[in-house]
Amino acid sequence: MARCTTTLVFVVGLLIMTGCSMTQSIPEPESPGAELYLKKCTQCHGLPAPQRHTAEQWDHLLVMMQSFMDKKNLAFPEDEKKLIKDYLHRNAR
Ligand code: HEC
Repeated sequence: MARCTTTLVFVVGLLIMTGCSMTQSIPEPESPGAELYLKKCTQCHGLPAPQRHTAEQWDHLLVMMQSFMDKKNLAFPEDEKKLIKDYLHRNAR
């Protein structure tokens, strides 16, 4: 029984640790822009780090991603795009 508890504590600790490192890997994790970015931009691939591209590159990439989403019939409304764009501009390379 004691062994079970130890394993449980270990697993829960591991979950908390990985949870933290995931939120720390992107800037402003609590902001609405970051939350939307996490939700919208992981539907087809992993999350690209905002620092990977410059603001101009992000503008171009967002147009590209918009057309990928259109093709898949995934909604990407203007207000969401603006929120993500602002977020990426603040944290771009
Ligand atoms: C409908 C699916 C889909 C969604 C949703 C999507 N992407 Fe993509 N994304 C792709 C595909 C497909 C590629 C690969 C394009 C290629 O390599 O030609 C890609 C590639 C990328 C790349 C890598 C480009 C490079 O330099 O190699 C970035 C950065 C990116 N997406 C950002 C985003 C962001 C930001 C969002 C959210 C707004 C997003 N994606 C949402 C389909 C999607």
